[in-house]
Amino acid sequence: MRIPNVIAVLALILVPSTAGAVELGDPQQGHQYARQNCAECHAVDAGDPLSPNPAAPSFEYVANTPGMNARALVV
Ligand code: HEC
Repeated sequence: MRIPNVIAVLALILVPSTAGAVELGDPQQGHQYARQNCAECHAVDAGDPLSPNPAAPSFEYVANTPGMNARALVV
């Protein structure tokens, strides 16, 4: 379940949210986007706990944060 969680979070990041609606983006596109734009600081891939920037949480950590959902992520 960990890899799908990470991919789902990355996909949600790319989807503009409309109130009350939950839409999933394209996990592949999200992963590619994250690799290009976020991997400089964040560990983007599942199973990779060490971010290049130690102050930046890994995306796996973010994905597994209790209560994390699309709205929480957008906030
Ligand atoms: C220049 C470095 C850098 C880049 C590039 C970067 N981040 Fe971050 N990000 C950080 C740092 C540092 C933190 C921790 C900030 C804090 O805890 O106050 C963080 C925190 C986060 C968090 C957790 C916020 C929370 O409240 O827990 C998320 C989600 C996140 N970043 C997503 C992204 C995404 C998505 C991208 C790419 C589109 C990205 N970041 C690019 C440095 C970066």
